Amino acid sequence: MRILILGPQGSGKGTQAKRIAAEYDAPHVATGDILRTAVANGSELGHQVRPILERGDLVPDDLMVGLIRERLADENAFVLDGFPRTVAQAEALDAMLDEIGKPLDAVILLRVSDEVATGRLEARAREEGRADDSPEAIRNRLRLYHELTEQVVDRYQLAGIEVIVDGEQTMDEVFADIQDALQVVAASR
Ligand code: AP5
Ligand code: MG
Repeated sequence: MRILILGPQGSGKGTQAKRIAAEYDAPHVATGDILRTAVANGSELGHQVRPILERGDLVPDDLMVGLIRERLADENAFVLDGFPRTVAQAEALDAMLDEIGKPLDAVILLRVSDEVATGRLEARAREEGRADDSPEAIRNRLRLYHELTEQVVDRYQLAGIEVIVDGEQTMDEVFADIQDALQVVAASR
């Protein structure tokens, strides 16, 4: 299965993507995790993106597209979390998958209000201290979601492959809804 998971910051993309990846034996490819690892390792990429992540801004499209192209090159299956975030990234992904004849099987959208998302990220800030869970960066990240990533959501909705899941339920309830949706997709393949 080639699955995309979309939703605002704090909607539970990472939480659910890990479970889907385990269930379908597909690698969880999370761009935020890749970037945070680069920062932690102090690599050249890490130095370049660190201030961008801390502000909650977006890393430039060409850099992200290059990273994903390399990461997905040899994968038949994946759960992609955190990419695409802009229409330019979505166009690049579609072209990339088209080229190798490996279209997406499903796009899952976790719908969560800004209030719930903010509450979760504030709680995580107290527990884990992720650099971009500061009040300013949370506001900026959600603003960018509405400004740029919602256009990506609309794009996949128009393509008819998007499934909307209520992300405000408990983690287990969200996962059960995702499993139901993916079973329908698997049966129709
Ligand atoms: P990224 O790491 O992708 O972060 P994000 O999009 O801000 O999303 P989060 O990881 O905060 O939220 P999530 O939806 O994964 O929720 P989670 O499961 O963690 O990106 C970080 C940065 O990298 C970006 O800001 C940008 O700078 C850069 N970047 C990455 N990709 C990029 C791209 N393509 N282009 C440009 N720049 C890019 O859950 C959140 C919290 O809620 C957790 O504490 C969790 O335990 C809790 N929770 C989850 N589900 C539930 C539930 N059902 N009920 C109660 N609590 C829950
Ligand atoms: Mg995440």
